[in-house]
Amino acid sequence: MAVEPQFAAPALPEIAPLPTHVAIIMDGNGRWAQQRALPRHRGHRAGADNLRTVIERFTAHGVPMLTVFAFSTENWGRPRTEVEAILRLGSEFIDRHLSELDRQGVRLQHIGAVDRLPRSLQSKMRRAVAQTQANDRITLNVAFNYGGRADIVHAVQLLFAEGARPEDITEDAIASRLATAGLPEPDLLIRTGGERRLSNFLVWQAAYTEYHFSAALWPDFGAADIDAALLEYSQRRRRFGLVPGQDADDRQLEAGDNA
Ligand code: FPP
Repeated sequence: MAVEPQFAAPALPEIAPLPTHVAIIMDGNGRWAQQRALPRHRGHRAGADNLRTVIERFTAHGVPMLTVFAFSTENWGRPRTEVEAILRLGSEFIDRHLSELDRQGVRLQHIGAVDRLPRSLQSKMRRAVAQTQANDRITLNVAFNYGGRADIVHAVQLLFAEGARPEDITEDAIASRLATAGLPEPDLLIRTGGERRLSNFLVWQAAYTEYHFSAALWPDFGAADIDAALLEYSQRRRRFGLVPGQDADDRQLEAGDNA
């Protein structure tokens, strides 16, 4: 059977190695709107639209997984109108883009507490996840109502509920109960908008992640910015707590060797 062409292939710089999993903090929507004398929700809308472009570029490069921070547990504290606008955008994003994303081989996943979201958004997200499960071109994990600390607390609560003893509380036991269980840890985390912090995103999972901070506001973050982030990543030397010349398999000592 003929293989359907996926996203049109744009001119791409060759970059290696590429990250397997890129996490993104999509910051700067409010300032983008403010610069244009628009209400903040227009910035979020432009940001949601930009996500399509960003997925296309990462897909073209062959990056197999993205996780985007769309709504944090702390974002509930924003003005009610803004919270409602972001929740509405979540629904609209699915309405407007699901069939095209599906056609292009994007597998959608949700991470975070789905049950506090409006029922219509919950069911749309479940439908989008179910509809795209068999896709394997790129996975898009949408963190919506997600908080990194809450994720860890929840994992430990699960362990206790299972009757875990102190010696059962291991890194593997916690990692396999996080919202990201089974996913590779992010190799690269990109934050747009000029700020340089993690803001309670993948607190556990980003322990050995490389960071790239971009001054671009999220709605303006485009193909050239993505290429620059990937190029910078490809030039980093990842050491995972070891020294130059060693790799993870050369480890001499077991515990406590994380200098
Ligand atoms: C941070 O910008 C952005 C958010 C809190 C929301 C991100 C949401 C979207 C991109 C749209 C929803 C996307 C999907 C997939 C449903 P900010 O408001 O903090 O910007 P500022 O720092 O300039 O004020």
